[in-house]
Parts: sequence; C-alpha cells; structure tokens
Amino acid sequence: MKPLSGQQIRRLFKEFYAERGHSIFPSASLVPHDDPTLLWINAGMAPLKPYFDGREIPENPRIVNSQKCIRTNDIEEVGHTARHQTFFEMLGNFSFGDYFKREAITWAWTFLTEVLELDGERLSVTIHVNDDEAFDIWHKEVGLPEARIYRGEEDNFWEIGEGPCGPCSEIFYDRGEQFGCGSDTCQPGCDCDRYLEIWNLVFTQYNKGADGEYTPLPKKNIDTGSGLERLASVLQDVPNNFETDLFRPIIDKTGELAGRRYGERSEDDVHFKIVADHLRTVAFAIGDGVLPGNEGRSYIIRRLLRRAVRSGRRLGIEKPFMYQLVDVVDEIMGADYPEIREKRQLISRVVKTEEERFHETLIEGEALLADVIGSLQATGKTVISGDDAFKLYDTYGFPIDLTIEIASESGFTVDRDGFEQALEAQRERARAARHTNEGMSSQRGVLETFTTPSTFVGYGQLTVDAEIIGLVRDGDWIDGAGVGDEIQVILDTTPFYAESGGQVADKGEMVGPAGRAEVLDVKKAPHGQNVHTVRVVDGTLHQGDAVRAVVDASLRKDTVKNHTATHLLHKALREVLGTHVAQAGSLVEPERLRFDFSHFGPLTEEELRDVETRVNAAIWRDDAVVIEEMDIDAAKAMGAMALFGEKYGNRVRVVQAGDYSIELCGGCHVERTGLIGQFLIVSETGIGSGTRRIEAVTGRHAYALATARKQIIEQAASLLKAGESNLVDRISRTLDEVKQLERELDSAKARLNHARVGELKDRVETIAGVPVIRAALSDIDMDGLRQLADELKSDKPSYIVVLGSVHNERVQFVAAVSKDLQAQGFHAGQIVKEVAAVAGGGGGGRPDMAQAGAKDPDKLPAAIEKVEEIVSSVAGNTRA
Ligand code: ALA
Repeated sequence: MKPLSGQQIRRLFKEFYAERGHSIFPSASLVPHDDPTLLWINAGMAPLKPYFDGREIPENPRIVNSQKCIRTNDIEEVGHTARHQTFFEMLGNFSFGDYFKREAITWAWTFLTEVLELDGERLSVTIHVNDDEAFDIWHKEVGLPEARIYRGEEDNFWEIGEGPCGPCSEIFYDRGEQFGCGSDTCQPGCDCDRYLEIWNLVFTQYNKGADGEYTPLPKKNIDTGSGLERLASVLQDVPNNFETDLFRPIIDKTGELAGRRYGERSEDDVHFKIVADHLRTVAFAIGDGVLPGNEGRSYIIRRLLRRAVRSGRRLGIEKPFMYQLVDVVDEIMGADYPEIREKRQLISRVVKTEEERFHETLIEGEALLADVIGSLQATGKTVISGDDAFKLYDTYGFPIDLTIEIASESGFTVDRDGFEQALEAQRERARAARHTNEGMSSQRGVLETFTTPSTFVGYGQLTVDAEIIGLVRDGDWIDGAGVGDEIQVILDTTPFYAESGGQVADKGEMVGPAGRAEVLDVKKAPHGQNVHTVRVVDGTLHQGDAVRAVVDASLRKDTVKNHTATHLLHKALREVLGTHVAQAGSLVEPERLRFDFSHFGPLTEEELRDVETRVNAAIWRDDAVVIEEMDIDAAKAMGAMALFGEKYGNRVRVVQAGDYSIELCGGCHVERTGLIGQFLIVSETGIGSGTRRIEAVTGRHAYALATARKQIIEQAASLLKAGESNLVDRISRTLDEVKQLERELDSAKARLNHARVGELKDRVETIAGVPVIRAALSDIDMDGLRQLADELKSDKPSYIVVLGSVHNERVQFVAAVSKDLQAQGFHAGQIVKEVAAVAGGGGGGRPDMAQAGAKDPDKLPAAIEKVEEIVSSVAGNTRA
C-alpha cells in the first residue's frame, strides 16, 4: 500500500482511465445546470445525466472525472462520525453505450491492487442478488473467492431520485477487527467502521421517471463512484477522513487560531471536524456562485456557515475566523480546482462578511434563547414555541436547525410545525403584497382563447396605421366604447412595447375616425398579443376602426437610454465587483432605472465611483448598439449574458453595445451609447440577503439631478459665504467652530450654575422646622435642574429641595428629600406631584429624588409657593 496524498490519488485515478481511452472532464459546478430534480450536484454522474438518458451524445463515450459533490441530508451527523461530510469529491469512470460490467470490474480491481497497491486479501464486494454476470466476473476473472462476494438487494440497486439507475456492485476494504463491532453478522455493509465502502460500480440500465416507472435506457452505461476522502484515509492509514491531508491542515490552522489542539479533548474534536467540513462546503459553493441567503442553496450555505461559527465559539474563538481558513482550502485543493484559487479573495470576503453579520446577532439571539429556555424551565415546559423560533430566525438569523440544536443541548425541543406556520404566514404576506401589482390576470377573460396574431413593430417604428381587431371591457368582448371608458384594445399591428424584461410599457395615444384614446398601459395577452389599456378621451372607438397608433416618443427615448444603461451597468458591476454579480431584477422606466444584483455587502464609495465612471466611459466611446436575432447556441458561443432562471427559446435576440456588453434581451435600446448622454447613480442599498439595488438616471434626468445637486452646492456656498471650491473647507472649519462654541457654552453654563447654587444656598428657609430650598427659575432643562438639586444637597445633611423652571415653554420640576426627612414622612415623589399639579402637570417618583413636568408656565410661582403648604401639612401630620 502506498502512502499517497489526496492529490496524488486524484491524479493517478484520472491518468489510469485516460490510459484506457477516457476523456478527462473537469469537475462541473456544484450548482446543477438544467436539472430541477437536484439542489446540488451530489454524485459524479449527476452532471452527465443527459449522456446517460440519451438526450445528448458525448464525443467520446468514455469519461473520467473527479467531481465536487454536496450532500446535506445528515448535517447533524458531521463531526460525530468518521466519515459524514457535506462536501466530498467523487472519483468516477463512465461508459455511455461502450464497455460494460467486465471492464468496469476488472479495471477497478487493477487500479486498487496494482496502482494503489491495496492488499487484495482485504477487499470484498457485494453484488445485486440476481446479478450472476457480475458474480462470474468477480469470481472467475478476478479470482475473488466466493466467500468474499456477498449478494444484496436494496443496497445493490443504485438510484437517486429520478434518472439513470441500475444494479450495482460495491467494493469494501477491511480495516481490521479492531475497527469492528464484534458481532457475528458483521460483514461488508455493516454500520460499523470495519468494512469501508470505497467504490460503487453501477451498471446503469434503467431510467426512473417522475412517475416512479423504470424504463430501459437506450444504451447500457457504466457509472462508478469512489469517495476520495475515504480512499485517502485507507492509504494514509488514519482512523477517519478528517485526519487525511484533505482536512488536516484546516483543522491545524483552526487549532492555531483557537489556541487548542486537535486530539486532546473529544468534545473539541467534534467542533474541529464541523468547522473543517463546513468550511470546505461553503468555500466551494461560493466559488460556484452561491452566496449565503435565505432561500434554497443560499440558505444551506448560510446555515452551514453559522453552524461552523458556533463550533468556532465552542473552541473559544469569539471573532470571525473562518475567512482566514480559505487560503488553506486553496493550498489543499486549489491546484486541481482552479475556481478556488481564482476566487480565493472573494470567497474569503463573503465568508468574513457573513461571519461578522452573524456575530452581531449571535450574542443577542443566544441571550433571547436562554431567556426563553429559562422561563419555560420555570413553568416546567420543554418545548420552545414556533413563534419564538421564528423570531430567532427572522430577527437574529438563527437557522431553525441551529435553534433546535442549541435547544437540545438543554434538553428542549422546538415546535417545528409552529415555526413552519409562522414562516408560511410571512411568505403569504409577501405573496399578497406582490399580487396587488398583477391587476391584469383577473381581467384576461376572453383573451385566454383569442389567437388572432398582432405584430409588434415598435423596435423600429413609433407610429403605425393599424386596425382594431379586439375591444374588451371587464373581460368581455364589446363593439365600441365612448368618452371616459377604460377598456382594452388589440391592434393588428402595434408600435407599443408591452411591459417585459423590466422595461415598462409605452404610453401614447390612438386616433380613430370617430375618436381618440390615451394609451395607459400595455401588457402581453396569453397568446402573445400586446393588449393596450386605454381611456377614451374623445368621441368613440369601434371594432374594425382604422387607427393611427402613436407612441409618446419623448418617454420612449428616455426609457431606451435607461435600458441600454442597465446593460452597461451590469457589465461594469461584474468588472468592478467580480463575476459573481448576477442580475436579480430590473426596472427600466423613462425617469430612472433600477438594477438589483447579487453581491454580499454595500459597495464602497470608490467602487460606486468606479462603476459610474465605467458606464460613462462606455457612453463617451459612443459605441454602436447592434441587435441581432440568432440561435441560442450561437449567442452563448459569443459569450452573451443570459439571465439566471430565465427561459429562452431557440431563437434569441442579442444586444451588443460595442465590445463592452453583450446580453440576451427583448427590449428597446438606443442606437449608439452616446445618446444616453450621462449616467448618474442616485443610490445603492441592500434589499435582502445577498442582494443589492442601484438606482440611477440618464439623459435629461441625469442633467436635472446634476443641476439640482449644483443648486444645493450654490445655496450652501452662499449661506456660508464661501466659494464652491473652498466650500468643504469652510464647512469643516465651521463645524470646528461650532464644537469650540459648544465647549465654551458648557463651561459658561457650569459657571452660571455654580453662581446660582451659591445664591440659592443663601435662601434656605425653615418651614415648620424643616430646612427647605425652593426656587422658580428660568431656562434650565431637566438635566440642569437635577444637577442643581444635587449640588444644593451635597453639603446639607438635612434638606428638602424643590426647583422649577420654564424651558421651551414647558415647566419642569425636581424635588429631593434627605434620608432623615424621608423618615419623618417627606416623600420627593409626592411633593413633586402636588407641586406640578398646580401648574397643570403630573409626575412622581422615588422618595429621595423625583421629577415632573407641567404645561402652564404662568403658574410656576404659585406652584413653588405651594411647597410651604405641603411641607407644613406633612410636618403637622407626622408630629400630631
Ligand atoms: N453514482 C454512484 C454513487 O453515487 C456511483 O454511488
């Protein structure tokens, strides 16, 4: 047996099969392409499905790869077992209608025993119970004794959801009795750690449909999968996958950051493994464009990252740290996975941002959870409510599984159904909010079955002579409409663009022989015609009328500037921020444009300026905007950007702005970029996890914005009596002056207070034998009053202080009573309450110090007068 590194095994595998006529395929992205059945690529064969079911024919029927895979069904197991991982590499060789069982089996054997030099005596296999052909090959050709060939049923039929499947033969390595469970029935397939499954050979013969039916595949195929980390653990003779060179450097670096060592405490080891596993998954997923977020794949990444952060805290690391481990992942795997090397910095930044975010709320969230658990404990309950779990999720970003995990550490469970209900209720609210924007759907009525075509000519023409081929009101056909009616009109030909791809509908008018209507909106009917919502403003419109349809050219011209600018912006963002930027939505109106895109944090000032400058540079170049229709494959070959999740037909429209931007798009554009005039960013904001929004203006609206900004500058300059060039300087000097003045004011106030204190001290009077200081003052706020009261009592062992002041047209009172007088029944809260009542107010508070407010400044003297009565009365009562 050779002690080989992970990288050596990976390379030897590919070489071995390349020598046997296989093409080496690079690993496909972890994000499945065109495969709605999978969230992640989870096996070496997953990206090759079209070859398996015959949709596509590979150039070479023999392929070998080492494929990145994510499987997340057992997240909670990770760290607690020798082999559970969320990310792993699968080595595989494939045949599409070419070789079958014989080669698959004998080559696997040769690779294991001759290239890796595993001891053949330690290998055993399973086969499907009915697969005599595989039995014969293993027994007669390879020479494996019958006793080491086991027949199984379910475990030996491989399928994963819909798609290609078939009987399989698994190869096991016997690690020795010391790893075993000792049971008499222990054999390959047992759950213990003795027999390690190192390779699965699938003889793919069927396709499993959505209905669960198995149909024979057009051709028989071979699909094999061998877990690289497992092979490495055997060849490196270590007890678990985490101790191979594919993980260990990450664990060691984590240990350095934590100041602890792997292998010293088993509780720590679990967390070391969790961090190492989750980090690899997160790094590779981000490398393939998945950013942490709240839905689907993004949510899984967020959840893994947050779980790892918690494990880091268990190891004593209280600040972001995982981002520092990304370089280690690169060192281990970057040579064979270039995406990790290229995107190392981006990955590290995304991880860091997400870690920081989570740290901010983690402490608060954990405190909340501890409170919830504490109060449940007090009442003897053990289930955390769905609403509390939802609050932790919604406000503190705690993935539900994390809440469940933390809760279980204290013996608590979570009402998961209640959580799901709260989540669904939130989704429902979001859906309801979206629905209100879709007024068209309920009114389609007769248009559902209307198939007469209508031609859109608005790319080139803004005015067209057309015929009315349909009039609809409230979902029913009508013959005609009169002034004030709001109806829908379909024309045989129209220049009006229907809202689509973010570009809003055109506005304008249609003029017929007997009347005129304003076009308010245009939407697509189910059969593709542009349907105009119009209001008749003059005369009547009738079915069959010849009308002149005229788009408001000025609005359209503004809109197309914004549309082309959106493409330039998309390109500039990818240049400045990176190719992870993907369009998430857009709105193209005449007045402004809005562009939503995936990115993990706010843009810096410099980035925004850079983006803005690049778009303007494309405008100054005055490139021609060339629009062509072509086959989708030709468009992709040209590198046209398609929008993620958008469905395109075979023929697509490609919009190219010079050499700069090239996108698939059905919208309207300027002929040359120079026509956009100018591009100014108005704002950049976050609109939910991992998505940013830029709003911008072009053309005359950019000019208007620049002019408005200039006016603000001019006004500011004139107010400060400065010129534009030294405005900033003047503002900063003025601010310095203000600070200085504030300091002086504070010290003047302090001096004034001091003087007042002196004055007031001289005015101590004795009421019913009690020393009292009282005064009606002006222009002192509550803080000032309290300070005064504090100072007045500081050198008096026995006192009652009552002060009032008018400040900002309100009256404020403060009262203070010394300990000895409190014992005699004087209470600051009661005194201040009665005093304030005189001036139409209320208040109260503690016996030693209290405050109150009142409305009537004129009554201040009377209120202070009242102190005498109050004090006398209390004194009388106590002494009586
Ligand atoms: N596709 C097979 C597996 O995942 C090889 O085990």
